[in-house]
Amino acid sequence: MSLTAPRTAADRPEYGRARYPFHITKEEERQLRLKGAEAVPSLVIGQATSFDEYARQLMIPPAVMDLARKAEDLRLSPWEVEAMRKHLAPATEPGDKVGLLRQILVEKYKKDHTHPPYIRVACSGRGEYDDLAHEHGHLHHDDHRKGDIGSPVVLEIWPAQHYSPIHSHGHTTGIVFCLAGQLDIMVYEHLKWDAPKLGLLTLTPGQCAWLSKDNYAVHRVYCPIDGGGGTTGPGYMNSTAEFGASFHVYLNPEQTAVQHDHDGNSYNRDSFDYIDEKSKKRRSFATESDLSWGLLRRVLANTPLT
Ligand SMILES: [Fe+2]
Repeated sequence: MSLTAPRTAADRPEYGRARYPFHITKEEERQLRLKGAEAVPSLVIGQATSFDEYARQLMIPPAVMDLARKAEDLRLSPWEVEAMRKHLAPATEPGDKVGLLRQILVEKYKKDHTHPPYIRVACSGRGEYDDLAHEHGHLHHDDHRKGDIGSPVVLEIWPAQHYSPIHSHGHTTGIVFCLAGQLDIMVYEHLKWDAPKLGLLTLTPGQCAWLSKDNYAVHRVYCPIDGGGGTTGPGYMNSTAEFGASFHVYLNPEQTAVQHDHDGNSYNRDSFDYIDEKSKKRRSFATESDLSWGLLRRVLANTPLT
């Protein structure tokens, strides 16, 4: 009889410990990536290069395909990426002035550190922190107003190692199109802390994920790029300027040909439900944006890149 205690799966290095943001081990991650790659309908929209891939994309709703086709040539230009990096950079010395985007992250962190913050930029309407651009000298006097909710087109900026809570896009139909960096998306069966995971995928620029009331409406987004040290989790703020960016479109039910019914889920994009990282309870958030794209673009265009 052996005197050595039997090894459990958790002792094996490939299994490891479940960590933020997805609370899965390395082995579970591998399995969920395989599950994501085989999901039907496909989690990702792209030009099919095999019959299998074509078949998996066949039942993606036409409204989604239309949004993806219209977005396929969108890119951030290199100067926009570089200027965003400048505005996301952390202070080199304590007390040093930081750029607009880092300032917003700090403000959001003060309000909520149940998860590391990300930035939502409304492509139409105004943002909650537009007034901060005043200090950067790019605010028109009529820009200074409260943020709007429910923009159908949103740019999201994901600092390296930061992530969203698990949230649902309710009855909307939409796309998540990667513009810069790299983004991991975990898709869940329904909106609950311990809901079954349907698959994990990584988006790189030009790749498009999607959602509708019946498919993939619940997810968590994470930027897996090196955050400059430390372990991500509640209360984490990265120490790098690296980021991922994604372009999101959300159509309300009446804007698509999709039939809808009332099942208690958020009906339109003015508010979405999420699972609070601390209490693990379902809550609702109004979809206010942090900035407006018109304003951010002005700030970026006036940022010296040398
Ligand atoms: Fe989302």
